[in-house]
Amino acid sequence: MRKAWEENFSKNIRDFKGYSIGKLLQYVKDPDIISFAVGMPSPDTFPRELLKSASERILREDIDHVLQYSPIPGEESLFESIIDFLKWDNIDIKKENILITSSGQHGLDLVGRLFLDPGDSLILERPSFGGALVAFEMEKPRFIGVDLEEDGINIANLHKKLEESKSGAIPPSKFIYVIPDFQNPSGITMSLEKRKGLLDLSYEYDIPIVEDSPYRPLRYRGDSIPSIFSIDQDRKGTNVIGIYTFSKILTPGLRVGFNIGASAVIGKMTNIKEANLLNTPKWNQDICAIFLKEIDLDKHFKKMQDYYRKKLEKILTALDEYLGTIDGVSWTRPDGGFFLWVTTPPSIDTMKLFYEAVEEKVAFVPGEASYGENPEKNHMRINFSYPSEEQLVEGIRRLAKCLKRHI
Ligand SMILES: Cc1ncc(COP(=O)(O)O)c(C=O)c1O
Repeated sequence: MRKAWEENFSKNIRDFKGYSIGKLLQYVKDPDIISFAVGMPSPDTFPRELLKSASERILREDIDHVLQYSPIPGEESLFESIIDFLKWDNIDIKKENILITSSGQHGLDLVGRLFLDPGDSLILERPSFGGALVAFEMEKPRFIGVDLEEDGINIANLHKKLEESKSGAIPPSKFIYVIPDFQNPSGITMSLEKRKGLLDLSYEYDIPIVEDSPYRPLRYRGDSIPSIFSIDQDRKGTNVIGIYTFSKILTPGLRVGFNIGASAVIGKMTNIKEANLLNTPKWNQDICAIFLKEIDLDKHFKKMQDYYRKKLEKILTALDEYLGTIDGVSWTRPDGGFFLWVTTPPSIDTMKLFYEAVEEKVAFVPGEASYGENPEKNHMRINFSYPSEEQLVEGIRRLAKCLKRHI
């Protein structure tokens, strides 16, 4: 009988612990807990009738193909509808620039596998999305964090890191990973000036940018800012790889997304997909194509925006009311997306606070899960898309009660 399976595991994977946020969720199963911890869209926003009728129609019209293996890069009808969809966002690409993925997480995994050898480094925002950290961690890279400011990544610090990389003081970085719109976890949006500055540095140091955009259409206030991909295209560049998913704008249940970029990048990512997944289910892709082609997208997004805007306003009011009087506590005021970021005095370790909060029947994601290196411990990621409006208020009231015990 085998004693220690661990000895057979690859060196790369032996110490790999998976997704830390996922592990915390086991503590929030109690239905009485108000959870700000998950990043789920509200089912109230799912276009249920469309999803049901599209699904039935596809089966009725094309059952043999739908139940079969299908082309690895993706379905023709979905390529076409993505090309049209992105024109709405001033992006003009061809089929050779798109790979259908089984959602954003798969898209990130492809990026990590494509660019990183063990020991390579990558630059990312501080804080950043825990799911991206864990996807890239599979390749054992070194994370080089650059602090976020109110209007996005600190460009001067980024410049400094790139110089250090160039001079050999730190390992050369393979790419810069950013979430410019309503960032997960902070809710911060990168200004136009910084998007341009980021691109300038990308050209100067010849380093690609990975732009992850799951929340882009979910803007609840203010004017849209051009994507980094579209600015790069306007400048005739090919330095940006875009990661998209249908998870937040349609439903995460389908597990469909797409990566866009230079044909050389997409071609190699397709080779990786041949090895790590094969095809994304045709049934799910066909539903996404029908969604993009047949529904009034402006109306759909407006409905989502109106719905989530109310939740955002509700939670911001509750934060003002319950946390506004607590010294040293601050939070971001996002213009869209699903999350905001609460900062507490440095004396508070939010991982410890998490367990107390669970006793108090409220949960959040401790900020330390959002750093590639040198985690800061005095932050919380708060999701406002999933809880009901009543739960948002009551949850913040409970959180304030916990915090007040320490401040
Ligand atoms: C910034 C970011 N990227 C990627 C993903 C993963 O998306 P998906 O659920 O489509 O895998 C998420 C999901 O929360 C996200 O917030």
